[in-house]
Amino acid sequence: QVFHLDDYKPTDFLIPETQLDFALHPERTIVKSTLQIERRQGIAADAPLILDGDELKLIDIRIDGAAPGDNTYVATPDRLEIRGLPQNGKFTLELTTEINPTTNRQLTGLYRSSNVYCTQCEAEGFRRITYFLDRPDLLSIYTVRIEAERSEAPLLLSNGNPKDKGELTNGRHFATWHDPHPKPAYLFALVAGDLGVITDTFTTASGRHVDLGIYVEHGKEPRALYAMDALKRSMKWDEEVFGREYDLDVFNVVAVSDFNMGAMENKGLNVFNDKYVLADPDTATDTDYAGIEAVIAHEYFHNWTGNRITCRDWFQLCLKEGLTVYRDHEFSADMRSRPVKRIAEVKGLKAHQFPEDAGPLAHPVRPRQFREINNFYTSTVYEKGSEVVRMIRTILGPDLFRKGMDLYFERHDGDAATIEDFIKVFEDASGEDLSQFALWYDQAGTPNLAITYDYDQATKTFEIEIEQSLKATPGQPSKKPMHIPVQFALLGTKGRELKPRSAKGGLVKDDVIHLRKRKERFSFSGISERPVPSLLRGFSAPVTLTSELTRSDLVFLARNDGDEVTRWQALTQLLNAKLTSNSKRVRGGKPATIENSSIKLLGDIAFNPALDEAFRALCLSIPSESDIARELGANIDPDAILGSRDALVSAVGESLAERFAELYDLLDHNGPFQPDAASAGRRALRNVLLDYLSVADNTPKLAAAQFSKADNMTDRAAALGVLVQRFSGSDATCQALRSFEERFGNDPLVMDKWFIVQAMQPGNEALGKVRGLMTHKLFSLDNPNRTRALIGAFSSGNQTGFNRADGGGYRFFAETILTIEKKNPQLAARLLTAMRSWRSFEPVRREHAREALATIATVTGLSSDVRDIVERTLA
Ligand code: ARG
Ligand code: ZN
Repeated sequence: QVFHLDDYKPTDFLIPETQLDFALHPERTIVKSTLQIERRQGIAADAPLILDGDELKLIDIRIDGAAPGDNTYVATPDRLEIRGLPQNGKFTLELTTEINPTTNRQLTGLYRSSNVYCTQCEAEGFRRITYFLDRPDLLSIYTVRIEAERSEAPLLLSNGNPKDKGELTNGRHFATWHDPHPKPAYLFALVAGDLGVITDTFTTASGRHVDLGIYVEHGKEPRALYAMDALKRSMKWDEEVFGREYDLDVFNVVAVSDFNMGAMENKGLNVFNDKYVLADPDTATDTDYAGIEAVIAHEYFHNWTGNRITCRDWFQLCLKEGLTVYRDHEFSADMRSRPVKRIAEVKGLKAHQFPEDAGPLAHPVRPRQFREINNFYTSTVYEKGSEVVRMIRTILGPDLFRKGMDLYFERHDGDAATIEDFIKVFEDASGEDLSQFALWYDQAGTPNLAITYDYDQATKTFEIEIEQSLKATPGQPSKKPMHIPVQFALLGTKGRELKPRSAKGGLVKDDVIHLRKRKERFSFSGISERPVPSLLRGFSAPVTLTSELTRSDLVFLARNDGDEVTRWQALTQLLNAKLTSNSKRVRGGKPATIENSSIKLLGDIAFNPALDEAFRALCLSIPSESDIARELGANIDPDAILGSRDALVSAVGESLAERFAELYDLLDHNGPFQPDAASAGRRALRNVLLDYLSVADNTPKLAAAQFSKADNMTDRAAALGVLVQRFSGSDATCQALRSFEERFGNDPLVMDKWFIVQAMQPGNEALGKVRGLMTHKLFSLDNPNRTRALIGAFSSGNQTGFNRADGGGYRFFAETILTIEKKNPQLAARLLTAMRSWRSFEPVRREHAREALATIATVTGLSSDVRDIVERTLA
């Protein structure tokens, strides 16, 4: 079944109040739901009520207290239809259903994870708990009573504020929660079990006292302190930057170990993958800390962008996700280094969203149709969705952007809104017409800007001509020109900015070129020397550039650009040009070539004390194998790419070995581990150097030494990474893997890193390694984190190992996907997207990939999740 945006129709009935009563039992949980229902004005008196269900068993049904006649309703596991409802259209519906949380391995609805009952209802999980109008525009006020055995579940949590609790007979007890804010069913949550907690408090700007709690497995409480700190900083930041205060007396976060995604913003009761809660220096890397900070903020920010203002339907998913990602990006930028954060975002976007846009799964930020909504929690909806919000800010400027956001909160509080509503607030706040800009929500694909320049010394005029193009994507053969904000500067000698006297041609406001036609010329007067243009500063639009900048222009930018993003971009472009041409040489049996000037450039950046260490680390990280593959775009041979990349790393490492070694020693930290951005930057730089030095030296000595000396997981994991990537099979590597396992074998989250690092071992041996690890006692396909660690890392991160020329990687993957699919279709579908770029490989691999995909496609009884992905991927 395909759902279309244009088919939207409001419900015939409203449910202003919902009362839920849970009698928890591991295999037989009884859910009694009492709904106050009203037929909407203007709907015929004989209109049936049709509620959604999914694998439900109806035990009892009452309408205004009486059992309805048998022929007035039909209940199937996925639907409840009731006819002959009271004429006045107002009635109480009582439903009793029975569900089994233990056998629920899909991890949506109510399930048990490590003996803890928890729920995941977004997008359509609530219908696995009780029959309901399970759609985001149906808002209801919830009161929830939970009853359970005290020994099994001393803790009973739901949304909103706690109201009542008490003891019952037979060792059972209960708690009642009331959420005064009307909400859609996808924001419902329940957690019950035996967990440890850390508590704190927050007082909002207007004086509301909020009790904060983070619930984790007993014994892991100290590992939740960083998350608590991030939560309080998020609450303060949202008040300061967006004027948004928290609106309940409690805010709880629960960490669970079986979770399909990162986390979930249930009102007042966020449920998290424990990976995004638990951290201490010994077990978490700097990346983990940054991830926790970002996800805690993200889910908290949803309280306004998602919960107070929700989505009318799931086509509008980016309304809450794109905007909330934008908000968490800004938060992290304020907490850390803004340019470094921005470069990380650009890298992420290019690594995940650009390939999505370029392949068979391409879809608009706001899709107009879907078969399975779970397959649209994508990088396009989230990350490109965030870029679209950022562009609105770039186009309007910070003040009008804020004015528009204020208007959004004021006008739409309590609404289930649409993208049109969102755009309208900015139009109303600014007086600008954003109708052309709105195409960003509708047109899939990454626009390319082809740029040419012209400088006339006599008239001191510099001209930039930009032509935008956007390739066809599934369902969108031709595209319209978009409004693309290109932030820029014209750089003169030593990188000083040349300010044009005037700009003619297309629209230029301050430092932003507003490209609106397919092809436009912008002419700048009063430019005293031939400038080098720095274009797309701050990565002001999610586009690719083809510009006629020369190699020396790029070197100039890499050395002098005052905007770190374009500076990094220039360097990356230079390296990519080298890496792609060398990949082709290696594929043709020729050796790679490397100029000394590139090595010198990297060295000058590495040793430049004026530059932030984190920035230097980003510059020195040679583009990954998949980055290079993406640059090549077609006829990909991962072995040649690896050869090309290794050649560059070793040339740089060998030439700069001595000074790199000095810097490596200098960067060693004294004193205890600190997770702040500056310390993390030093570790990042030192760990990039470790790789160069190890390759140059061609021994595992340095990495082995760092591994055994490390007093924190960042340095330990980096050393282990170098050992496995560069010296797999060596004694040093085997010993490090063994000692890691001995030390952290009881800690699943840490062991995920151990699985990941081995899944990424390059070359043909990886497949055997992965097969072997699947039988490891700590591995289980039932746990999403473990599955992603081994199968996900192998398929989406191991270019040479997964894309073996003999197709063995693909065959193994197809088999494994079919196994995972039987338990957890959502997880299987998500993993399968690793094959979305199969068409860009060279013919032999491409054919193997097609065959593996076809094996999946021909299976009968596939879940709609996997069927949707496999068919679109093959189409
Ligand atoms: N809303 C959650 C978040 O981004 C993610 C929910 C994902 N749901 C899903 N069905 N994939 O914060
Ligand atoms: Zn979100």
